[in-house]
Amino acid sequence: MKRALCPGTFDPMTNGHLDIIERAAGIFDEVIVAVALSPDKGGGPLFTIDERVAFLREATAHLAGVSVRPFDSLLVDLARELDATAIVKGLRAVTDFEREFQMAQLNYRLDRAVETMFIVAIPDYMYLSSSAVKEIAEHGGSVKGLVPDHVNERLVDRLRKGR
Ligand code: PNS
Repeated sequence: MKRALCPGTFDPMTNGHLDIIERAAGIFDEVIVAVALSPDKGGGPLFTIDERVAFLREATAHLAGVSVRPFDSLLVDLARELDATAIVKGLRAVTDFEREFQMAQLNYRLDRAVETMFIVAIPDYMYLSSSAVKEIAEHGGSVKGLVPDHVNERLVDRLRKGR
């Protein structure tokens, strides 16, 4: 039984995240999407941890072997706790590389039994990020097709009411 973690802040999840999760689910027997509390990231997440988990649960409901859970610990500790042998992350343009490389090195240092693996983003999602989605939506632009429809609705709703 090969189990992998797909970690991230997912504020909010995008179709790029979903593509990586789907592709990881095709490789591993079980994929656990691990949603980090990340209270300090970018001035605090727009969506609560419960909202971010709920978005992902709805979007991955059709995928056998995929589950979603929140976490607020070291990723390698979660991997050990859940008996996951791999951390799977999406890799977009070169801009991702340095940060991802740093995290992979640090995680390797913390626990050599957990492998970090990257799945390269497809061209459609190469430049897609949660921050870009929020910025577009904040200025009234459409992010339809970049995030699942249920996330799009909640995003528009949240931004209309203000943070
Ligand atoms: O969505 P992101 O910003 O790429 O996700 C980053 C995340 C949540 C995977 C990373 O910050 C993380 O693993 N946080 C848990 C704390 C931890 O283990 N830190 C050490 C590795 S740098």
